[in-house]
Order: sequence, then structure tokens, then C-alpha cells
Amino acid sequence: MKKVLITSALPYANGPIHIGHIAGAYLPADIFTRFLKFKGVDAIHICGTDEHGVAITLAAYKEGISPKKLVDKYHEIIKRDFRSIGVEFDHFSRTTSRTHYMIAREFFLKLYKNGHLEKRTTKQYFSPKENKFLPDRYIIGTCPYCGYEEARGDQCEKCGRQLEPLELKNPRSALTGVSLELKETVHWFFKLSSFKDKLEEWLKRKNWKPFVKEFSLSWVKELQDRPITRDLDWGVPVPLDDPDAAGKVLYVWFDAPIGYISATVEYLPSEWEEYWKDKDTTLVHFIGKDNIVFHTVVWPAMLMAHGDYILPTDVPANAFLNLMGRKLSTSRGYAIWIDELVKSVGQDIARYSIALYIPEKDDTDFNVVDAFSRTNAELVDSFGNLAQRVLTFIRRYFGGKVPHPKSLSSEDESIFNFARMKVQSYENNLLKYNFRLALKDAVELSNEANRYFEHQRPWKLVKESPERAETVLYVAYQVLKITSALFYPFVPSSVKTLWDYMNIKEGKFDDMVEVSPELSGVEIKDSKPLYRKVDDKVIREWVKILEERAEGLESKEKRISIDEFRKVKLVIAKVLKAEKIKNTDRLLKLEVDIGDNIRTIVAGIGDKYEPEHLIGKKIVLVKNLEKKRIRGVESDGMLLAASDKDGKPVLLVPDEDVPEGSEIT
Ligand code: 2FM
Ligand code: ZN
Repeated sequence: MKKVLITSALPYANGPIHIGHIAGAYLPADIFTRFLKFKGVDAIHICGTDEHGVAITLAAYKEGISPKKLVDKYHEIIKRDFRSIGVEFDHFSRTTSRTHYMIAREFFLKLYKNGHLEKRTTKQYFSPKENKFLPDRYIIGTCPYCGYEEARGDQCEKCGRQLEPLELKNPRSALTGVSLELKETVHWFFKLSSFKDKLEEWLKRKNWKPFVKEFSLSWVKELQDRPITRDLDWGVPVPLDDPDAAGKVLYVWFDAPIGYISATVEYLPSEWEEYWKDKDTTLVHFIGKDNIVFHTVVWPAMLMAHGDYILPTDVPANAFLNLMGRKLSTSRGYAIWIDELVKSVGQDIARYSIALYIPEKDDTDFNVVDAFSRTNAELVDSFGNLAQRVLTFIRRYFGGKVPHPKSLSSEDESIFNFARMKVQSYENNLLKYNFRLALKDAVELSNEANRYFEHQRPWKLVKESPERAETVLYVAYQVLKITSALFYPFVPSSVKTLWDYMNIKEGKFDDMVEVSPELSGVEIKDSKPLYRKVDDKVIREWVKILEERAEGLESKEKRISIDEFRKVKLVIAKVLKAEKIKNTDRLLKLEVDIGDNIRTIVAGIGDKYEPEHLIGKKIVLVKNLEKKRIRGVESDGMLLAASDKDGKPVLLVPDEDVPEGSEIT
């Protein structure tokens, strides 16, 4: 294999790292890179923090500090988190670096020169109070699909749908709550649709994970041009000498992936082109599934449009990790943070327990009880125990020297054969990003080695047949060495310690998985157990902590008491008259009978209901709401309606006829 450039999604510098991030991108990328380097491949792992965009400016606003202060703070925290869990990068940069600004500007200008960008007039929400256009996440409103009132301009967190700000009902500023006006403005668009055929053809040839490929192809079918500039004062300024560019920056998803290039330039100022411009280089992007289209469609199209760079070879995206049956959420504090996990169980136990649940195909649940119990059984009781018993035995009975073998029995041959088979399967699995299966191969070998040891009973042999005991310990030592090589990418720090105990120089994978007769006679060192089990008390504490965090989630969804609810007086009302309010799209003026009197109300249901079809209908009305003047009409009550899938109102009506004025309780 020639050069391999591995990247992990640049995490937003707006919060610490949790197990979901680690399982979704960084641990698989770290394991993969470690394995390739171990194989002797010229591989590098590049990453950095994503420091632009509204994810940053909004978090800064919430913390009451400047975006610059925020990204400086989290860049350090994130680096520390990765270090603590042993995720290593050849270079970890940031998108506010000077090199990045330079490379991102050049990239934009090249696309501009090649005719792939176009200035277009669009309609966008404007906040009169703040006197500026608002980018998508700065706008909140009611989701047209599920009715969630706090949906963001880019996505509804409740139903998960991607949104455009113009789709929101009742749009308002996320910061001040003021309502917004639609105004014309200009933005630069990337003419993505012109790459449709090329992308489709390119994607079809790829032998990627099926869910990644299918999702990408379905996206390409409905490809649209995308605006790549935003109205923000934080980001890479649009590098054009055009008065319309004032106050605009590159869209974060335009500049972030370019960060992969700029980080490589920073790391290897004179060799970076060997990675980005050589057709023989393999480029692999590790990401979570929410980043798929940006890496499999938009970014490749950007690279095609630019023309100088290679395209991604593979994008082994992962699905999401859930935690104890619930979605992880940084903003709502429901997660296991990496620093607390490593403090609690140590680096390699943390890595192992997460590796067991890498969501390679589907969303996967991380259950602390199962995760730590399996880690105890597989890493501590199987692999750790194998290491411990082999080393202790050699020290106790053979003066600490790896014995010389006599002739090998069929059982000795068969454990070596088993090891060879597992090594092959392991390699295949890792190269196909089947991390969990690769780990299973390692564990199966370790289990088999333990079985071999027990079956041979060397503690008896030392008395009854000392020569045979020497052979068994020689075989066990060799199999331990092979097993350790398979565990290395997953739990590197403890395996390095083991190699030191075994007095083995760190070599290349292919040598480490071979039997090495020259190691007979080597003196091993004093050793301690490699791992400590996660004890039941710690597991119970984790369960409790997570239960408390989950309760926190619910209490944030503010509950009300029954007495509070009773304050709302709901009654059945019969529509007597209905007419459109002039010069409005959907406002109707209704007269309704609520038993003891007749009320006039204004309702925004005219886009769905014709006035004449409403006469005689029985509906639900909030009776004790403050009166409100709407378009010159005093509205004395509010009717209740749900939303259909297009966001249009659907009236709530009683299931059976009930008299007007009936109270709803
Ligand atoms: O979703 C995210 O966290 C983004 N910051 C990922 C960016 S990946 C790349 F394109 F930089
Ligand atoms: Zn929704």
C-alpha cells in the first residue's frame, strides 16, 4: 500500500468529548491508523477542531464569552480528552489557523475562477431589532412537520428533519425572540447540481458500507445548488472584492473539510502534496452518520470542482451510539464524558468497553453494566489473565527465562494453526472496518490460549515431565506474543507495557504474529497484572449517575401540576359564522357559540379550511385567554388544532356530538 491519509471529523470546539464521539469516529480511526502503522504502511492521522459556524457563536453567546475565547478553551479541552483516551493524531490543528484561512480562501477563489460559484439573490430572515440577516440556527420557530415550537432553522431536534428557515412557522430570533422579516439579500452558491452525473457515476463504483453508499446515492438524486456563504462576523471572510461580500463569511461546512488539507499542509509543509495530489494515495474519512452527505457528496464535488486534489477513497461512517437506551445529548448533559470515564476505569478499559460497541452498521446502545462486564470477562479475565499466568509461571519455574522447546506435540501445532487463522481473519476484518469482529478474533485467540494452558497443566508437568513443561511455556509465550499484537491497536498502552515485561522489542505486525524461536532464553522482567477489573461498586455508581442524568433530561422538559393545567378553561364551541380577513393569507374571523355566549375569534386556518365548510362544526376553544387584537379584529379565544404532515392545521373535534359550552376536563 502506498501512502494512506486518515482523517477524523473535525469536532466543533464547543464542548468536551463524550463516548458517542469516540465510538463514532475517533476510536475507529485511531485503531485503523495504529494498525496500518504497525503493518509498516506510510499512514498519517489528521484532525483538528472545527472552530467556525453558528455552533460556535451560539455556544459562545450562551457561555457569555467571545467565540475566540470559546474555541481557545475547547480546543485545549478536546486535545486533553483525546490524549487521555489515547487517541493519537500525527497533527491536530484548528480551523482558525492562518494556514487554514489561506487555504480556504484559495479554495474558494479557485472554484470561483472555474465558474462553479454564482452570486444569487435570495430571501432571508432579517431581524429589525438586531439590524442583521440571521443564519439558519439563529432562527427558531414551529416545525412544520411535528409542531415542535423550538425547532431550529436548519433542523428540528424533536423529529430530526432537516429544515430550511423559510419552512418554519412563527419564525423568531433565537437570541432575542423578536419576530423576523423576510428580505432580499445575496449569497454565493456552489453549483452542486452540475456534478450530479459525475458524482453518481463515482459513487456507484464505490465498494463502501452499504448504508453509506445508499444514503449518498439517494441524496445525489435530488441534488441542489447550495449557498456557501453566511451572514456572520465569525469565520473566513468571503475573499471577494465585492461590496455584497461585506459582513459575509464562508459557510462552516464549506471551510471545515478544507481543514483536512490545511492541517496536512501545516504538518508537512514540503510533502503535503504527496498526500493530496498523488492518485496512489488512499484517503479515508472517519465520520459519524450525521456527516455523511458532506463527505460523500458535497466535499467530493468541491474537490472535483477544484481539480487539483484526489477524492476520498472510503468514508467508513458509523451510526450513533445511544446510552442506556437514550440518545446522547451534549447540550442537555446526557453523556459519559471521556475525562470522567478514563479517570474512573483507566485508558485501556475505557477504550475496550467503547470498542465493543462501535456502531458500525446500526445505532448501538452502550449499557454500562454489559460494557464493563464484557470488558472484565474478555480483556481482564481472558487476555490479562493469559499474560499474568504465562509470565508468572516462567518467573517461578524457569528463573525468568523463556524456555527452549523440545519437539512440538499436535496440540502445540494446533494452537499455532489456530493463531494463524485468527491473525488472517483479524487482518481482513480490520481492513474492512469490522472492528468488532477483529476484536472478537483477538479474544477468541486469547480464550483458546487459556484453554491450551489449562489443558496442558504445566503446574503438574514441571514435576512429572519438566521438558514438556518447558515446551508448553515456550508455546504459551509465543501465542501470548501473537495475541498481544492483535490487542495492540485496541489497547496500545497496556500492550506496550506487556511487551516490556516480555522483553520484546516493538516490531512490525507481520513479525509479531510469527513464532519467533530466537526468543528462547530471553529474560522476562518483573510484571504486575495489566488490568484491574471494574468492580461492581463502580458499575453500580455509573448506573446511578446515568439515572440521575436521565432524570435531569426529563425535568428540563418542564412539567406542570394538574392545578396549573386546570387554569386553562377548554370548552366545546359551535361555529356560527366564518369569513376571511381581507389581505391576509390564512386568517379567518369566526363567530362561535360557547353555550352561555357568542364569541368572536381569529384563527390561522384559512390555508386549509374554506369558511363555508366550517359553519356548524364543533371545535375546541380556550375560553379564558387574554383578548388579543389581530388585524383590527379583537380575538376572544383560541381554537385548538394539530398540524398535518405539510404543517397545515387540523381541527380537533369531539368524537360524538356534545352540546356547545361543554367543559373539557
Ligand atoms: O458535525 C461536526 O461536529 C462537524 N464539526 C464535523 C466537521 S467534519 C469536517 F468536515 F471538518
Ligand atoms: Zn419537527
